[in-house]
Amino acid sequence: MRHTRIKELLSTAQAGQEALVKGWVRTKRGSKQVNFVALNDGSCIHNFQIVIDSDKVDAELLKRITTGACIAAKGLIVASQGSGQAFEMQATEVEVLGDCDNTYPLQKKGHSWEYLRDIAHLRPRTNTFGAIFRIRHNMAMAIHTFFHERGFYYFHTPLITASDCEGAGQMFQVTTKNLYNLQKDENGSIIYDDDFFGKQASLTVSGQLEGELAATALGSIYTFGPTFRAENSNTPRHLAEFWMIEPEVAFNDIVDNMDLAEEFIKYCVTWALEKCKDDVEFLNKMIDPELIERLNFVIKHNFVRLPYTEGIKILEDAIAAGHKFEFPVFWGCDLASEHERYLVEQHFKCPVILTDYPKEIKAFYMKQNDDGKTVRAMDVLFPKIGEIIGGSEREENYDKLLKRIEELNIPMKDMWWYLDTRKFGTCPHSGFGLGFERLLLFVTGMANIRDVIPFPRTPGRAEF
Ligand code: 4AD
Ligand code: MG
Repeated sequence: MRHTRIKELLSTAQAGQEALVKGWVRTKRGSKQVNFVALNDGSCIHNFQIVIDSDKVDAELLKRITTGACIAAKGLIVASQGSGQAFEMQATEVEVLGDCDNTYPLQKKGHSWEYLRDIAHLRPRTNTFGAIFRIRHNMAMAIHTFFHERGFYYFHTPLITASDCEGAGQMFQVTTKNLYNLQKDENGSIIYDDDFFGKQASLTVSGQLEGELAATALGSIYTFGPTFRAENSNTPRHLAEFWMIEPEVAFNDIVDNMDLAEEFIKYCVTWALEKCKDDVEFLNKMIDPELIERLNFVIKHNFVRLPYTEGIKILEDAIAAGHKFEFPVFWGCDLASEHERYLVEQHFKCPVILTDYPKEIKAFYMKQNDDGKTVRAMDVLFPKIGEIIGGSEREENYDKLLKRIEELNIPMKDMWWYLDTRKFGTCPHSGFGLGFERLLLFVTGMANIRDVIPFPRTPGRAEF
């Protein structure tokens, strides 16, 4: 007999049916005569109750059914007398597949997030992390479905690269050089000629540049893969390794880009509410009582769209009216999370798309506005998160782009292939990047980005 997964059993169970289930013991309670085992197999948030009469199984075997142990149980499905579930199993055969002694770190409930991060190899076995990682899977499916249905092609961009897309110098180097014996030239610079790639290489911070090459050939594409940033910011919203989704669309201008971003996020949030109902309800109950309300709010309301310059005015007015920010506000400043959240949570009480940022605080590839000061950038700002999406219309004019590259001293030899797109049949195009874990923070209600990725990489931490 093949075993049935609990999710399936709960939706198809009928009294009188025989079944085999396999999973991990969450709890065992009961009396001398009868034992109630809550079994979970990860297929869903719900446990399945296994009732074991003490006189039906060996006393030694019964002792081995402890929290954390892996068991297989066979028996009859019956209507449950208990209040927690409609059906339960009256076990006739029980086998312990894997014993678990009392050093198992998940004995009791209510561990701190920090403690659970230290046992990230086991935390998927808790209710909360089971729910989060099922939602994570579902969001990936939502993303692929959204783009596939709209005729976008999933394009794989390289993880090892020789160019710094964002120009922020936050790259992790990739080398096979012997670090104990680095050869330097007469200026003291490291010689990379004999390194694996014959030049300095790094892990990518974004697949956008290659994504643009694809958009100017396939029309509409998206990437979805890991990205790496060596920014030493120990915040609840930054990871050194995170996943990013980057659509890039030929002939889209900034307004089309905003429309796509808004439709995309709403699609993902709707998917979470509809397809991850049990897990989202669990998180709403246990983690964040306003979660479902917030998700529904985002779906129902149009995002506010306004230029950076007007955003700065609102923040300056807030300061004049007595509001205190940690970081200064002035035209030209890069907005901190506290500023973004003020606009979203206190001023507009709605997601905001901020556009037309000063060119000095944005990347070289963004389309320059006629004012000479701003670029056609757009950041989508969300409650509790701040920036969830960053994107722009791209500078498609060869001369303007080249001038900007030179102004910023970006090494030309690394950029020739990117500039070629502007030389050979250039076209207006736009795109953006969604931080996958920031989306997950939003749909799970979790407060720390380390808790929505299975094995977080942050400064000083690469365990597991
Ligand atoms: O705003 P960013 O830096 O934009 C880009 O990388 C562009 N190339 C995207 C594009 O236009 N194709 O990053 C995009 C998003 C951010 O809005 C944020 O959600 C997420 O990526 N992000 C991070 N998420 C987790 N940890 C970090 N260190 C992140 N840095 C950015
Ligand atoms: Mg950004």
